[in-house]
Amino acid sequence: MILLTGASGFVGRQLLVDLLAAGHPVRALVRDPAGLSVKGVEAVKGDVTDPASLKPAFRDVDTVIHLAGAISYRLPAAELMRVNLDGTRNVLAAAERCKKILFASSVSVYGETRGEASEATPPAPKTAYGRSKLAAEQAVLAAGIPALAYRISVVYGPGSPIWTRILKLFGKGFPIPRAQVNTNLIHVRDVSRAFLVGLRKGAGVYNIAGDRSLPFEELATKLAACFHMAPRFAPVWLVSMLAAAKPGLRQELQAFLTNREYAVAKARADLGFSPRMDLDTGLQEMVSWFQSQAKEDA
Ligand SMILES: NC(=O)c1ccc[n+]([C@@H]2O[C@H](COP(=O)([O-])OP(=O)(O)OC[C@H]3O[C@@H](n4cnc5c(N)ncnc54)[C@H](OP(=O)(O)O)[C@@H]3O)[C@@H](O)[C@H]2O)c1
Repeated sequence: MILLTGASGFVGRQLLVDLLAAGHPVRALVRDPAGLSVKGVEAVKGDVTDPASLKPAFRDVDTVIHLAGAISYRLPAAELMRVNLDGTRNVLAAAERCKKILFASSVSVYGETRGEASEATPPAPKTAYGRSKLAAEQAVLAAGIPALAYRISVVYGPGSPIWTRILKLFGKGFPIPRAQVNTNLIHVRDVSRAFLVGLRKGAGVYNIAGDRSLPFEELATKLAACFHMAPRFAPVWLVSMLAAAKPGLRQELQAFLTNREYAVAKARADLGFSPRMDLDTGLQEMVSWFQSQAKEDA
């Protein structure tokens, strides 16, 4: 039996659907079982910050996929550590008899990259979120349970709460910073597929990222094309000033302005994994999903 934490989240919903489709016995650990949109799965109520609540979910579990976490550039550092590190420690304690744990880490452990960051590059997180993911990853790898940690790049696709916020601004013509950085995205279905592969093979740390990093301006131009608009670029300082008026936007913007280049050779060699989604197709799919949601909400 596989236990999936974070099953109600952006990545978790996709992975839950794919695990079920592949015929895996899976149980979802969620804070609100009634709110889980994926049906036909055993959902157990639990909160990773409450160790006692985890026990019932672990009956007959041999594999844990731990996605639950707080992703935020606004939450206080202590809260990020409470959910991402202490929560992971609680999951590890409950999983002590499991045969494998797969953990969703993040490329934020690298901070700003200079050239391609490989799994051998010393981590240097520059946000509280990145520090909490690194601490959690280290706890997973030191727990004495066979483990793999995926350092996942920026995930995009239908259903992403972060991209929904960004696309809302984009659609309203909010200016795009003319930032001289490279960025890297991976589609949510590719991330899900990486976890399915990881059930069978792999140990240790892997970058799970797009094959190619692309200039931020190129990404913005592609996104604008999906909206049938011309991109409205402005200097970074001006966009940062405008962003300061919206709670949390400046921190989110900062994350987008981080240089992101990651080596993906290890995942390809050891796991036989490389992303399949073509970026243009994936972006168009996400924007079309966003527009259909916006129509429903209107
Ligand atoms: N999205 C990305 O770009 C990205 C990139 C790299 C790594 N990651 C990692 O991938 C994982 C999944 O990300 P996501 O994008 O799917 O995030 P998300 O949409 O924000 O989902 C987070 C999930 O964690 C659950 N959760 C939060 N606090 C919890 C707690 N105290 N107890 C139990 N469950 C809790 C949430 O449950 P509720 O529904 O109850 O809130 C939700 O299911 C995270 O660990 C994240 O750090 C994501």
